[in-house]
Amino acid sequence: MDAADMGRDLSNVLISEDELQAKIKELAGQIDADYAGKDLLIVGVLKGAVMIMADLARALHVPVQMDWMAVSSYGAGTKSSGVVRVLKDLDTDIANRHVLVVEDIIDSGLTLSWLLNNLQSRNPASAEICALLRKPDAVKVPIDVKYVGFDIPNEFVIGYGLDYAERYRNLPFIGTLAPHVYGGE
Ligand code: XMP
Ligand code: MG
Repeated sequence: MDAADMGRDLSNVLISEDELQAKIKELAGQIDADYAGKDLLIVGVLKGAVMIMADLARALHVPVQMDWMAVSSYGAGTKSSGVVRVLKDLDTDIANRHVLVVEDIIDSGLTLSWLLNNLQSRNPASAEICALLRKPDAVKVPIDVKYVGFDIPNEFVIGYGLDYAERYRNLPFIGTLAPHVYGGE
């Protein structure tokens, strides 16, 4: 895809590269303060969290280990159902570890609420969540998200790890898709 195609597919830039990077530094500062003197394991949820994990990990000063999980949530169409399948589990035993789950976006919150329960059953010292983006529906789920980058409107977003049909993950900013891309006007 060339730049012109990319331009036509995007309806607008919601969060610029500069805004993303500034927010990640801010989140890293909070995490550094909260985990000072602790041994932290950050867990990225594949594939969407790849970009935020890479940037957040480099912005942190506390020593961290990194691990990854891949999950798929079943559901009709684009909505998640809360029924989650683990496609790739952690390589790390998290018993007595401080775990911070890093996620790209919380929509219904069902995926993360399942994931947090699953991790808590492994007896970590603590388990918290850092999500770059949060959509309005997330308020309906009683899930405590300690670190949130941006609250965004209920629109489908792409870029910086987020995809539409596996495309656009490599954009350095967050954008919204033009309706013609997903079959609208
Ligand atoms: P729930 O509803 O369980 O789902 O919180 C979270 C997962 O849904 C995906 N998701 C999106 N992916 N643009 C995307 O590329 C979006 O606007 C969007 N909204 C939700 C995402 O995989 C996330 O982990
Ligand atoms: Mg996705």
